[in-house]
Amino acid sequence: MTTPTMKGKVCLVTGGTAGIGFVAARELARRGAQVTIVGRDQGRGAAAVNLIRAVADSGAVEFVAADLAEQTQVRTFAAAFAERRPRLDVLVDNAGGLFGRRRTTSRVSNGPSPSITWATF
Ligand SMILES: NC(=O)c1ccc[n+]([C@@H]2O[C@H](COP(=O)([O-])OP(=O)(O)OC[C@H]3O[C@@H](n4cnc5c(N)ncnc54)[C@H](OP(=O)(O)O)[C@@H]3O)[C@@H](O)[C@H]2O)c1
Repeated sequence: MTTPTMKGKVCLVTGGTAGIGFVAARELARRGAQVTIVGRDQGRGAAAVNLIRAVADSGAVEFVAADLAEQTQVRTFAAAFAERRPRLDVLVDNAGGLFGRRRTTSRVSNGPSPSITWATF
């Protein structure tokens, strides 16, 4: 079976520094896609980028730090991404969590503080 090419495709993988998201990002980059991975930790992001660059073109992957449980960071990230990329072909909306105890994120404007479970999905 031949591996389908993703050459020229613009992909975004949230939670791309570990686990399922990392493997998805690596395989997209390996197939020629331009992949942006998002996570909260710069060190984990740099390590993931290095691992992906070992199997793909060096320009095929970039890391952007953002806490996607925080609406202000989601909006800042999305605006910067839209400015840099002409389009988005694939969104792997992978970062997320289900937490046993209710916790909330920061408020957006004067609205309520969302549950962190809701905010990360
Ligand atoms: N593994 C399973 O068996 C399983 C089963 C069912 C569903 N899932 C779901 O599949 C997804 C991935 O699971 P996984 O096991 O691969 O997870 P994982 O290994 O824990 O990786 C989670 C990824 O998400 C990032 N992340 C977590 N919180 C974030 C936040 N607030 N903002 C931005 N990035 C964040 C982490 O990076 P940083 O920590 O650096 O931010 C990491 O890159 C999750 O949504 C999980 O609930 C997994």
